[in-house]
Amino acid sequence: MTMKKNILCIGAGYVGGPTMAMIAHKCPKYKITVVDINPQRIAEWNSDTLPIYEPGLDELVLATRGKNLFFSADIAAGIRDNDIIFVSVNTPTKTFGAGAGMAADLQFWEATARQILQYSQSSKIVIEKSTLPVKTALTMEQILNSAHNGIFFDVLSNPEFMAEGTAIQDLENPDRILIGSRETERGLTARQVLVDIYTHWIPPEKIVTSNIWSSELSKLVANAFLAQRISSINAISALCEKAEANIGEVARAVGMDSRIGAKFLNASVGFGGSCFKKDILNLVYLCRSYGLDEVADYWEGVVKINEYQQNRFTMTMLKAMFNTLAAKKICLLGFAFKANTGDTRESPALFIARRLLEEKAEVVISDPKALQNATIDLKDVRGSIRYVEDPYEATAGCHAIAVMTEWDLYRNLDFKRIYRTMSQPAFIFDGRNILDHRRLFDIGFNVYPIGKPPLTHF
Ligand code: UDX
Repeated sequence: MTMKKNILCIGAGYVGGPTMAMIAHKCPKYKITVVDINPQRIAEWNSDTLPIYEPGLDELVLATRGKNLFFSADIAAGIRDNDIIFVSVNTPTKTFGAGAGMAADLQFWEATARQILQYSQSSKIVIEKSTLPVKTALTMEQILNSAHNGIFFDVLSNPEFMAEGTAIQDLENPDRILIGSRETERGLTARQVLVDIYTHWIPPEKIVTSNIWSSELSKLVANAFLAQRISSINAISALCEKAEANIGEVARAVGMDSRIGAKFLNASVGFGGSCFKKDILNLVYLCRSYGLDEVADYWEGVVKINEYQQNRFTMTMLKAMFNTLAAKKICLLGFAFKANTGDTRESPALFIARRLLEEKAEVVISDPKALQNATIDLKDVRGSIRYVEDPYEATAGCHAIAVMTEWDLYRNLDFKRIYRTMSQPAFIFDGRNILDHRRLFDIGFNVYPIGKPPLTHF
């Protein structure tokens, strides 16, 4: 069967893999190839154990792989044989030189642009999927169109808004698809090619087109607004603890205002994930580089409150447990940055684990999907760390439990049984407010939720 379109995606990560699997599923007449510089990662995408955990992903890949979805390590052939190229390589925060700790590290991005130029024998549409600082498309265009050899590249911006843990649902039924392009005749023609792909399953009113810079910026701004809501509610959670108010009640009352809305108002130990912190710092750096210091300071506050919240959580633990954690066993229930993923990037659990180890606590880490990543993250950290998947075994003998991730599994544990196996007095610090605090208190625990008065037996 000849395929109607050949599409390539460079970068087989959390964005590239699932997005291409969805396009392959929805467009059976298109041939999709996903390539990556890491052959091991490609081998995993071709195996029974995919490199990432995401509900529904296994089924999607199984249904399409080998039919119209292919994972390959041959980047040169991929570029040569495809005229539509998505780029979803990682753009981590720069760790060196100018803008270290703030700006995006674009070295992988630029290397990819140069590879595309090197191997292309015909004109192509190149689509930015990774989150990038505004104006990256300009750099991309400049590199790609530097050869003056009759081959022309159109660069589009098509940021991905899906969240981990619900990626497949989000890809199937997104709030919107955003496509930015140059507003020239060529740019608009290229944009239509991408619109045609999404039209296979997305209603036209949800496909939003814009100028290319607006599209790049919208992704950073969307993440900044989402993170800002969490920092806002977390800041108020500190006040609730002092004022004997209840953050759950405040969030409900505030969220019922239709102008505000009820989502993303769960107070927590802090937000994590690969995007929020990175994107806000990126935004802050961008503002500063344009001389907009007040704007930069404003958004930087979102990250500062997040650090404050994580630190506050460990201080609550320390104070509650008689100002010393040395040699105390503490079980972290959950290590992933949110439920339904094995991803631990920027997880608050990472920060908390480090702080507890500094206090010389003995840390037991439990998680149904993230233990492998946790082991890698903490391999250079000194101190007593054990990894135990079974929550009953993990909590046995511990002085305290700290809930780090809102896995459903933790809501339904037999806490009577857990209480009996723990050192007394037993403490629970609920960093996600998912447990029944009154019930835990009745069992005998000293309970410290976020943004609510603690329930203690002292
Ligand atoms: C985010 C954006 O939601 C998504 O649109 C973008 O494409 C990538 O970044 P993700 O990082 O996968 O997605 O997860 P998200 O569900 O946004 O959660 C981020 C963090 O905030 C998690 O640590 C989560 O636990 C925390 N969170 C979320 C809260 O603490 N409270 C809330 O009310 C919501």
